[in-house]
Amino acid sequence: MKIVHAASELFPYVKTGGLADAVASLGVAQADRGHEVVVFVPGYRSVVDHPDAAEAETLLRPKIEMGDVYMSGEVRMFSPRDGVTVYMICRDEFFDRRNPYGTSERDYEDNHHRFIFFCKGVVETMRLLRMNVDVLHCHDWQTGLLPLLLRHAEQRHGDVLAMRTVFTIHNIAFQGVFPMRSFYRTNLPDELMGIDGVEFYGQMNMLKGGILFADRVTTVSPRYAQEIQTPEFGCGLEGVVATRADDIVGLLNGIDSSVWNPATDALLPATYRLDKLAGKWTCREELLRRHGFNPDYDGPIFGMVCRLTTQKGVDLVLANREFFKRENCRLIVLGKGDPALEKGLKELAAAMPKRVALSTKLDEGMSHLVTAGSDFFLMPSRFEPCGLSQMYSQTYGTVPIVTRVGGLADTVVDIDQDPKHGTGIQVPVTSDGLLSGMERALRLHRNVKKLVEVQLRGMRQDFSWTRTVEAYERLYEDGE
Ligand code: ADP
Ligand code: GLC
Repeated sequence: MKIVHAASELFPYVKTGGLADAVASLGVAQADRGHEVVVFVPGYRSVVDHPDAAEAETLLRPKIEMGDVYMSGEVRMFSPRDGVTVYMICRDEFFDRRNPYGTSERDYEDNHHRFIFFCKGVVETMRLLRMNVDVLHCHDWQTGLLPLLLRHAEQRHGDVLAMRTVFTIHNIAFQGVFPMRSFYRTNLPDELMGIDGVEFYGQMNMLKGGILFADRVTTVSPRYAQEIQTPEFGCGLEGVVATRADDIVGLLNGIDSSVWNPATDALLPATYRLDKLAGKWTCREELLRRHGFNPDYDGPIFGMVCRLTTQKGVDLVLANREFFKRENCRLIVLGKGDPALEKGLKELAAAMPKRVALSTKLDEGMSHLVTAGSDFFLMPSRFEPCGLSQMYSQTYGTVPIVTRVGGLADTVVDIDQDPKHGTGIQVPVTSDGLLSGMERALRLHRNVKKLVEVQLRGMRQDFSWTRTVEAYERLYEDGE
């Protein structure tokens, strides 16, 4: 099949979270199955400047209709590996910026224009290049208008744009909500402005467009597919999601074992594997050293790598200040995001410099080191569509402590509930819940034999894309 993805992030070119990893590794897994994969991304500065894009070729300079004006763009292309081609939709005014969406204080004010332009650029490119696509797979709100724009363009231009569409919700909390007056930039018919279109409480909701107009809708874990049909997790869109209940399916993300594999990981000071764990200790020493701790410390280390948002339950960690004061353990956090949470963590680290350390940067290498060098990986999310970090940590023999939501519930088995198959610790979404989980972790840490059993069981889990890629193939085939 010729599969086209459209997404606002793609590892290793632009990444703020798991979306980048998920899209990149899905594309690679599909190419490995013999499909021809194209991924459209905005031509952000970090993509254009990436060494892989150094020899990128300009394919087109389309004029994109944006309401009553035409804006010029440039479509550039490079191929990072066999079977995968990346198409960048460039316009410096929109994408030549430091970050993809905005600063930690606020989003860019023209995000609606930026992503309408991106979506239109994707449609125009497929049309002008007569790309002969089987399926267009769109990801998250930034591409929510694509199914509508595609159908509308298909009516005007015919079969060259006839293809199935799939829309994947990676996170329903981000919906791309903008004033309705920006709708005219889409040049879509007025009826799509209404309640049966993209209108939601008087505003334009791009995610809603994707949910209503794609042939099939998926989300990134089976449990999240159910959760988003409830008021607790639907972020207001539960009713909209429920109208597609028959077409929505939760397909668990996989992980790319060429990037996340302790046996081959070039970002680590030492590699390790099931039958040769010594390298994990080297990673641990390096992790401690890099954070100013004594590398000989042999007590429990809690690691955490995440966007600092309420989604990730950072406040639940902060509420457990006393635990870190009382227990001789280490907490190492790598995260960036909400300034208030960043401040809270900074204060915690300043109050307990011998126990708690924080790095507030985006650092791919450090994310691997924290994952490898810790004993426990904290992920007390309030909601988690899939979550990749808990899969990475299991693969790296680091026991995850997770809440029982979304993809976390689907990928972590609690060691007390199922001692034979347990790979982690599940906790309720409260600060006391997290506290009891961390206390269980301390007990596990004292029982070395059991700890190693749990670690090895985690390392043996199969989180590859195999199953999901086949499920997507079936979905693409009968997406009519
Ligand atoms: P989400 O997509 O909600 O952020 P996931 O668990 O799916 O959560 O994916 C998070 C990804 O982002 C992981 O690859 C994690 O290592 C990475 N990540 C988060 N924060 C940072 C950071 N500060 N530096 C490097 N990588 C980070
Ligand atoms: C989103 C979700 C996360 C998921 C990722 C990739 O960012 O928050 O749970 O793993 O997308 O699908």
